[in-house]
Amino acid sequence: METTATTTKPGILSGIQPTSVLTIGNYFGALKNWATMQDEFDAYYMVANLHAQTVKMDPAELRRRSAETFALFLAAGIDPARSTVFVQSHVPEHTQLTWALMCNAYMGELSRMTQFKEKSAKTADNINAGLFTYPVLMAADILVYQAKYIPVGADQKQHVELTRDIAIRFNNMYGETFVIPEPYIPKIGARVMSLQEPEKKMSKSDPNPNGYIRILDEPDVIIKKLKRAVTDSEGEITGNPERAGVYNLLSIYSVCTNGSIEDSVAHFAGKGYGDLKSGVADAIIETLKPIQTEYARVLADKAYLNEMMKRGAERAQATARKTVRKVYHKMGFDT
Ligand code: TRP
Repeated sequence: METTATTTKPGILSGIQPTSVLTIGNYFGALKNWATMQDEFDAYYMVANLHAQTVKMDPAELRRRSAETFALFLAAGIDPARSTVFVQSHVPEHTQLTWALMCNAYMGELSRMTQFKEKSAKTADNINAGLFTYPVLMAADILVYQAKYIPVGADQKQHVELTRDIAIRFNNMYGETFVIPEPYIPKIGARVMSLQEPEKKMSKSDPNPNGYIRILDEPDVIIKKLKRAVTDSEGEITGNPERAGVYNLLSIYSVCTNGSIEDSVAHFAGKGYGDLKSGVADAIIETLKPIQTEYARVLADKAYLNEMMKRGAERAQATARKTVRKVYHKMGFDT
């Protein structure tokens, strides 16, 4: 059993959808930070596979990607001995709590969610109710573990705010039940931008694969994508954030080498864009190498992978069960 010491630390929870193979944006913006937060917090990290089906996905592919994303979490340093790492659908309490919260969430507030508006504009032929109620499932993910801090990117902040509103509303109506969560912006957050459109965040759903680098990309692919990265016509390497392309390359170099932007500028002083691109490619390759090796090892060991998923789910469920019991009882449901 876990020691009781973990329960005195504030809870954190975050999740990533297994819709496609994760990029270095997911690594530097989320996974790397998650790994460093494992000692300070009682951490819950999940593969958000229920969320992924709001956009139609082939079932076999979703199943495979869920396992792969879980393996990638472990390979990126999420330690199942210190953190609760699990697949969302393995813990049915998420959907049980969703119903309870759904009855305390309003159509009006859900209609105001920017992501819903954007996604429904993109997939006009499939505006399913799941797409609309997705933030309530996300609220359940958070509240079911009584998590205090939620590490998320800017695009998910609105959903955490909504979670707060629902939790406060529920507490007012039924008495103290939920910890009120807050979005958590990591101290050393890195926003990795697209290599092709450096004003935009690097995204795993970018239709142009040259815009992103996957955590699992081979060295020759990384070198090729870096060669094609957008810079500018100034020629000189400076740390001016307005020169989005060059700045993005410098900040990727910084996060790979754990240095500052100034360190990176100094490193490339007097050099050209060719050197910058090959230097950044090498730094990325070096950073990803141990993760890729560990990923291959974990994914090949199905017994280990399944055992870790099972244990993670059991551990998550032990906490989630308590919250659902409490909530259902307060609302007048018997279970
Ligand atoms: N909706 C998040 C995303 O698309 C993933 C997610 C699901 C999540 N549940 C969560 C993130 C709970 C933080 C907390 O990125």
